Amino acid sequence: MYRIGMGYDIHKLEDNRDLIIGGIKIPYEKGLLGHSDADVLIHAIIDGMFGALALGDIGTHFPDTDNEYKDVSSILLLKRALQLIQDEGYTINNIDCNIIAQEPKMKPHISKMREKLAKELMIDVNLISIKAKTNEKMDAVGEKRAIEAHAVVMLRKEI
Ligand code: CDP
Ligand code: ZN
Repeated sequence: MYRIGMGYDIHKLEDNRDLIIGGIKIPYEKGLLGHSDADVLIHAIIDGMFGALALGDIGTHFPDTDNEYKDVSSILLLKRALQLIQDEGYTINNIDCNIIAQEPKMKPHISKMREKLAKELMIDVNLISIKAKTNEKMDAVGEKRAIEAHAVVMLRKEI
């Protein structure tokens, strides 16, 4: 049995914040703003996982009004989302993602992100694809005011 889900997220780039994407700290003059560490890629993946099983979305499970999640590492949320899908009898078949960022270059960090996510999700690195694009200087993302991410997550249940 296969189930597919899609996830999307966007966060503003601001001064005095770390830039954390895919669980990796990326050197840059700004970082993403959010209640948690604002890891836009992990948030998109989590929504894809929940979406695949029609379990609602990240905000339903981890409300940003809840102080428990203030400045929390999104890796922790990812682990909890993994537990939820495992409780339903599913494992991750594969994940494909896009990061849309005008700056900085993601390419030098993508293999580290894949390894980190594979380790945390306890799957082979070849099951996680991460791609990057600019927004051709258009709109908020292209004007370096935000970074967005999209993810498609395929889950599998052995029956
Ligand atoms: O050439 P095309 O318009 O399809 O893509 P682009 O947005 O100009 O990005 C070219 C390449 O740069 C991408 O295929 C990525 O490998 C890389 N890239 C990156 O590493 N980090 C970004 N923030 C954006 C693009
Ligand atoms: Zn987010």
